[in-house]
Amino acid sequence: MTDHLNVVLHPLVQHKLTLMRKKDTSTGVFRQLLREISQLLAYEITVNLPMTSRTIETPMTEMEAPMLAGKKLALISILRAGNGLMDGVLELIPSARVGFVGLYRDEETLQPVQYYFKVPDSLKDRLVIAVDPMLATGNSSVAAIDLLKKAGATNIRFLCLLAAPEGVARMKEAHPDVPIVTAALDERLDEKGYIVPGLGDAGDRLFGTK
Ligand code: URA
Repeated sequence: MTDHLNVVLHPLVQHKLTLMRKKDTSTGVFRQLLREISQLLAYEITVNLPMTSRTIETPMTEMEAPMLAGKKLALISILRAGNGLMDGVLELIPSARVGFVGLYRDEETLQPVQYYFKVPDSLKDRLVIAVDPMLATGNSSVAAIDLLKKAGATNIRFLCLLAAPEGVARMKEAHPDVPIVTAALDERLDEKGYIVPGLGDAGDRLFGTK
């Protein structure tokens, strides 16, 4: 994956995203749509994974058959909304190892502070896919990727549902080696850091909180 930003324009992704954006979409439907879109985005983010081959026997004959190369990939949820993307991706990549990064924003410094960090071993040998539905200011995504790199990750990709230009620019500046896959690049952030037109607070819509 070479481009820094890959906006997935597949008609199914775009249709499902429109349904998710609508303010009247219920929690249950929102959650199901996110699961479905996450599979399509996972397809896209894994499209050029390195391959190897193995000798196998079919009922007919022996053959050299393609397989994914290397260690199982690591899927990292940036809490809490990242969890909404996990089930769909794991349905497609069931053997992925799973980790979680929890960050909150310090009210005084406005900087992200880590409250939870649990990731698979040998991160340096794995493709790491970090997931968070909303790339808004980019502050938490950049901080999460800082932590993953500190833990040894060298091959990281970032999967989100919506991105704002500000977040993409911030990620490109801080982590130019981390490609981003998203369903849409929206117009801007509002004064509170919400993506416009966006879909509101992804965590609240996903979990039915306010
Ligand atoms: N986080 C969200 O959930 N929504 C936004 O619009 C921005 C950040």
